[in-house]
Amino acid sequence: MSEIIRTENMAKVFTDGKKAHTVLRDVNLSIEKGDIFGIIGYSGAGKSTLVRCFNGIEKPTRGNVFFEDRSIVGLKASELRTIRRKIGMIFQQFNLMPSRTVFDNIALPLKHSGLTKKETSKRIKELLQLVSLPDKEDSYPAQLSGGQKQRVAIARALVNQPKVLLCDEATSALDPKTTKSILYLLKKLNEELGLTIVVITHEMSVVREICHKVAVLDKGKILEEGDVYTVFSNPQEKLTQSFIETTSTLGNVKELIKANSPVVKLQPGQLLLKISYSADSVSEPLISYISRQYNVDADIIAGDVQILSDHPLGGLIIILSGQKTDIDHATHYLEKKHVAIEVLNHG
Ligand SMILES: Nc1ncnc2c1ncn2[C@@H]1O[C@H](COP(=O)(O)OP(=O)(O)OP(=O)(O)O)[C@@H](O)[C@H]1O
Ligand SMILES: [Mg+2]
Repeated sequence: MSEIIRTENMAKVFTDGKKAHTVLRDVNLSIEKGDIFGIIGYSGAGKSTLVRCFNGIEKPTRGNVFFEDRSIVGLKASELRTIRRKIGMIFQQFNLMPSRTVFDNIALPLKHSGLTKKETSKRIKELLQLVSLPDKEDSYPAQLSGGQKQRVAIARALVNQPKVLLCDEATSALDPKTTKSILYLLKKLNEELGLTIVVITHEMSVVREICHKVAVLDKGKILEEGDVYTVFSNPQEKLTQSFIETTSTLGNVKELIKANSPVVKLQPGQLLLKISYSADSVSEPLISYISRQYNVDADIIAGDVQILSDHPLGGLIIILSGQKTDIDHATHYLEKKHVAIEVLNHG
């Protein structure tokens, strides 16, 4: 794989009167062809500014941005237009023209393409098939649901056959089910067209759902980045951990303990454990193994385990009962298998 977008020590400073406001600092990112690359951060972190630098809508104050190994900083307007045709973009609010039909909205970026009417019509019909809206070409945006509007926006973004699609909070205005269907469509476009996709989001569940790589942006700086499995299984930064916690239900157990819930009430000798799988954990049936081998009982009271890149990711909350030495052996065994153990409570 080779890289398609790269930034080099990129900084962006907005000046408002005399006050300078640094929005991006020393951003070094490399996005490879064919990747779905997630950029996550809280509101105001600089995510939109960052992607706007990718397609030249914003110009970095310092540093450089390369598209296919060519710097786009300082290009003439006409050259920049050519580059922008290779980079499609979609937004949270869809940005469709309300007075135009679906067909005309999608046709808009083809204005100076030189395609004939027939070619234009053929391409738009193909795109409407691709985004699963074959019968909506004569509808107006107001007649569509949010998910359908985003599908039209995706078709419009793809009409010039770009190499990259930038998605700025593309699912933030949609309900969870529609979000899934749009994410599934993006994944399909990535797999079938080889489209490189940059996904801007504040939701870690979006990253987990479709991204291969992720970068965490905080106050204009890249805090942490890597492939999604590695970052999820072994986050280095507090902020990354808190984003990941929002995708798991296991944190609720601490509240149950605080509230003295009967679900987490322990008998003498019992242990309440959180066990978490990591990148090195094996996917053997560990729980049934320790029960058999060490004669302990493992009562699973909550679980959130997913398979990501062929490895288990997530964890379980279990109550272990048995002889103390057996429990010790069992927990040592789990640790040997690279399962992280946190003792939440003792009986
Ligand atoms: N054109 C501009 N002029 C001045 N300041 C700006 C401009 N654009 C963005 N900013 C500032 O830059 C910071 C980052 O904004 P940006 O929109 O990139 O954040 P974001 O991470 O996309 O946030 P959100 O999740 O709310 O969309 C904010 O403090 C914002 O006020
Ligand atoms: Mg934004």
